[in-house]
Amino acid sequence: MRMEQTLILMKPDTIQKRLIGIVLSRFESLGLDIVAAKAVVTNRALWEQHYANLKGTPFVDSVIDFMMGNFNNLPDHRMYAFVLRGENAISKVRTVLGATNPEKAEPWTLRGQFGCIKNDVMQNAVHASGNAEDAAREIALWFKPEEILP
Ligand code: TYD
Repeated sequence: MRMEQTLILMKPDTIQKRLIGIVLSRFESLGLDIVAAKAVVTNRALWEQHYANLKGTPFVDSVIDFMMGNFNNLPDHRMYAFVLRGENAISKVRTVLGATNPEKAEPWTLRGQFGCIKNDVMQNAVHASGNAEDAAREIALWFKPEEILP
């Protein structure tokens, strides 16, 4: 067991469906602590850094458009970001989240339950860091150290 931190972002489909509370409660019930939380208005430069690992893929531009809320005319480019801390937080969260493609996600996972729009991989409910290296990079991008509980 390892104490870990992971970054969670509520994707625009979750924001629009008003599912943030339900999603957060699933993570809380894993025994994880919410050690940072904020609402942010994002811009393209932030997303290009966040998705630096997707640079060069055919879908990166549409993923960034989606994350900026352009797909459903949310009132601004809002995003809700959280840092969760706990033992094996990264893999626990990814397990509850399910496979990237909601059509392939197990039915008890968040993506299996809430990200189920046919032929749209992007609308998959939540972003969660994939591994320890990404988690450290992403947390530093979204939060200042003093915004995270000690
Ligand atoms: P990725 O980091 O591979 O997946 P995950 O979010 O599970 O860590 O991809 C980032 C996002 O890009 C993913 O959540 C949805 C979108 N995406 C596509 O639109 N098409 C694709 O073929 C893939 C792999 C991802």
